[in-house]
Amino acid sequence: MIALACDHTGLELKAYIAGMLDEMHLEWKDYGTYTPESCDYPVPGARAARAVARGECQRGILICGTGVGIGIAASKIPGIRVCTCSDVYTAELSKRHNDSNILTMGARVVGPDLARMIARHWLEAEYEGGRHARRVDLIARLEKGEVLEGE
Ligand code: RB5
Repeated sequence: MIALACDHTGLELKAYIAGMLDEMHLEWKDYGTYTPESCDYPVPGARAARAVARGECQRGILICGTGVGIGIAASKIPGIRVCTCSDVYTAELSKRHNDSNILTMGARVVGPDLARMIARHWLEAEYEGGRHARRVDLIARLEKGEVLEGE
């Protein structure tokens, strides 16, 4: 299950991405916003991020004007690793190396076809583990408030 969310700037792009998920036969759930009225991106962002953190959704794709605000909000939820991205390379590597579980994009930054390509690469990429697992584990320890050796 893929969590989708956006603020008022991202409604159209979210619908486009949902269409792509349908074509890929991937299930998705929309955590809002649902109307064009101005809304505060941390609310739908956190709602979707919590669904990913709880394991109800395996990944999330979140959209605001730049992708930054909703990404910062989502990354406050423990267990969430956000990739805010406008290129295919970063999207793919963020899954392979960083095990990103939320992708955010800016509806005012990327066009629909690029967004679709980014999302597809990210969804098809797999976490490689190995040497990357140690680093992702260090990130988890930071989240718990630990001070890392050598810091
Ligand atoms: C809304 O105007 C805009 O600030 C928001 O969509 C987002 O870009 C914030 O990061």
